[in-house]
Amino acid sequence: MKGCIAVFDSGVGGLSVLKPLTQLLPFEDFVYFADNLHVPYGDKPVEEVKNYLFRSIEKILACQPKAVVIACNTATSLFIDELRKTYPDALFFGVQPAVKPAAKFGNCLTLVTAATSKNKNFLALCDKYANGYAFVYPLPDAARLIENNVSDEELEKYIKDALEGVILSNFSTAVLGCTHYSLRKKVFEKALGNLPVMDGNVSLAKYVKKRLTELKLTNNAKLKGSVSFVLSNPETKEFLKYISLFNF
Ligand code: DGL
Repeated sequence: MKGCIAVFDSGVGGLSVLKPLTQLLPFEDFVYFADNLHVPYGDKPVEEVKNYLFRSIEKILACQPKAVVIACNTATSLFIDELRKTYPDALFFGVQPAVKPAAKFGNCLTLVTAATSKNKNFLALCDKYANGYAFVYPLPDAARLIENNVSDEELEKYIKDALEGVILSNFSTAVLGCTHYSLRKKVFEKALGNLPVMDGNVSLAKYVKKRLTELKLTNNAKLKGSVSFVLSNPETKEFLKYISLFNF
């Protein structure tokens, strides 16, 4: 595992970041770490999330990866600064929601976990990059429902109920500010009356490639890299189903 690119999420959501990473960096070895014993993070108190996250990161850093991609908006919003401060020798990348490109089209409905919706860093980033065009709404149960692989119908109903009263015609786009949501993009599009839906996953993968290239950290041996998985709860069929959809 030494020298791999570690990709971390609380659960399945980060697979939506792992995919573009493997496509853009085919010669790298990736290890996907999920703290699926404690997923979802977004509905837990901040201190509890911190505890789970830092325990996971300790395990990941013990493998000596060359970079750690935090493929979780919740963990990035709440703790990326603290992670960088605590582990100054590690190279961290964090996923950012697509509020900047989305705001060019006007108001964007920005959907996130409960923890992200209350986070000062996240709200400041929305103000900075979206100039008042990002309207943040929490979907407190969506990540859990997606992790449990509920049907499209159940997820669609949940999204519609949670956003009852929101006038969708006031928005030009919707931003998925939780990597779990990207796994079920089509359901979000349908539930949101076909509003164009955006996320920051491919941009993050491009940025990781750019930085690793600048830092001369990419693999020069032109051999196809590997993808492996480390789950804090390996007993989950739904996780394996999601992995199988991606054909890594
Ligand atoms: N995939 C996550 C995110 O991007 C985590 C969701 C959760 O664990 O609540 O926020």
